[in-house]
Amino acid sequence: MLYLKNISYHPPATVNPILKEINLELGPQKLGVIIGPSGSGKTTLLEILAGLAQQTKGNIFWRDQELTPLDLQQLAGIVFQFPERHFCGKTILEELRLGHPELGKTQVEEALKEVGLDYLSFETSPLNLSGGQQRRLALAVQLIRQPNVLMLDEPTAGLDWSSRRQLANLLAKLKEFWTLLVVTHDPGELLEFADSCWQIHNGELTIDN
Ligand SMILES: Nc1ncnc2c1ncn2[C@@H]1O[C@H](COP(=O)(O)OP(=O)(O)O)[C@@H](O)[C@H]1O
Ligand SMILES: [Mg+2]
Repeated sequence: MLYLKNISYHPPATVNPILKEINLELGPQKLGVIIGPSGSGKTTLLEILAGLAQQTKGNIFWRDQELTPLDLQQLAGIVFQFPERHFCGKTILEELRLGHPELGKTQVEEALKEVGLDYLSFETSPLNLSGGQQRRLALAVQLIRQPNVLMLDEPTAGLDWSSRRQLANLLAKLKEFWTLLVVTHDPGELLEFADSCWQIHNGELTIDN
């Protein structure tokens, strides 16, 4: 269970807070979707939950344990918007093992299988994959680290209709094993599979029933 209590983010350089007293609970093996327009604070919230920025107020808990940014860096996996722009491995194998040279081929195979890419050769270049395959690979890169919560920033942005559908189906399958939090301005087919939905506007989160 991920639990956010009164999270605010108001860096000194900004006139208004970017996030205002956000409360959120996301149970294990659930898919949560936060919907909001551009500039509403979605990416900032994920950066805080991934331990890449620190809230100026409030607390984040996993079950009853309070988490520091360092804990969050270890517990959370984040798939950034357009993750394929940040690929730097020459092969799929290299991409999945970046920073984790200890990972064996079995773990790499397992991660690829989870995202339905196990039919590809390890030696394939990430740059030669289709847009939809690249998004799946970016997911595998995070899943191989076994995150407690997997967060995705605009996961379907820029995909064609059929790849969007496939990605939504994949997320629906992944939530049987993982806890997922998606932020997006365009939820589309994800809404079918969401267990909880929130709206965010100007840094204020409201639950959608
Ligand atoms: N480090 C920062 N300093 C000042 N303003 C920021 C910073 N990061 C984000 N912002 C501002 O916070 C607001 C929310 O941004 P963001 O989280 O990127 O929104 P979204 O992902 O919903 O489009 C925007 O107005 C943006 O300009
Ligand atoms: Mg954003």
